[in-house]
Amino acid sequence: MLRIQVLLASTRSKRFGERAAAWAMDRLDRRDDLRAELVDLREHPLPLYDLAVAPAHAGRTYPDDATAAWAGLVDGADGYVVVTPEYNHGYPAALKNALDHVSVELQRKPVAFVGYGGVGGARAVEQLRQVAVELEMAPLRHAVHVLPDLLVPALKAAAFDVEMLAPLDPKLDRLAADLVWWASALQTARAGT
Ligand SMILES: Cc1cc2nc3c(=O)[nH]c(=O)nc-3n(C[C@H](O)[C@H](O)[C@H](O)COP(=O)(O)O)c2cc1C
Repeated sequence: MLRIQVLLASTRSKRFGERAAAWAMDRLDRRDDLRAELVDLREHPLPLYDLAVAPAHAGRTYPDDATAAWAGLVDGADGYVVVTPEYNHGYPAALKNALDHVSVELQRKPVAFVGYGGVGGARAVEQLRQVAVELEMAPLRHAVHVLPDLLVPALKAAAFDVEMLAPLDPKLDRLAADLVWWASALQTARAGT
């Protein structure tokens, strides 16, 4: 079974990201072609990047327990869905820090995006696609962008229900189908090399 990690990039105390990730997890859990796992960056705190050897050159050797745990976690996935807000037209610093701590663990794996914000997190997602290429990942075209028409009511709701984001289900279905295709193809390819 393909292992897909949903990376929750916002670590803020009152984050909308938790709601978007809950919806994505609910929908992905319904599929029988993947096994989804929520990876909340808040639960995997790392120091600001201070590694002596860049992960691209260090292979799977780690200087400390926190880095080893984080790297070991993401190493276990066949693909990723990054759920990201947009902060000042970029993506959260915590996400960049987490990505900078790994390299080979992510290589030759697909990554898709669920963005949210005034323009659906589109600028943050575009930047992340560039970062993904440098990490030798396969960033996918199909994405979900949660725009203010759905974001604001879902953000303000005292009791959030994942059904509030149901209008985006077709977009997530397309993303998931594409992610499964790439994750399966690259899993096979990785096993052959
Ligand atoms: C520091 C900061 C910068 C922001 N900059 C943008 C921005 O450039 N574009 C945008 O659409 N929303 C921006 N927002 C609004 C966020 O999209 C909105 O607060 C969202 O809920 C943040 O996600 P989170 O609650 O999961 O952390 C910004 C919010 C913060 C806190």
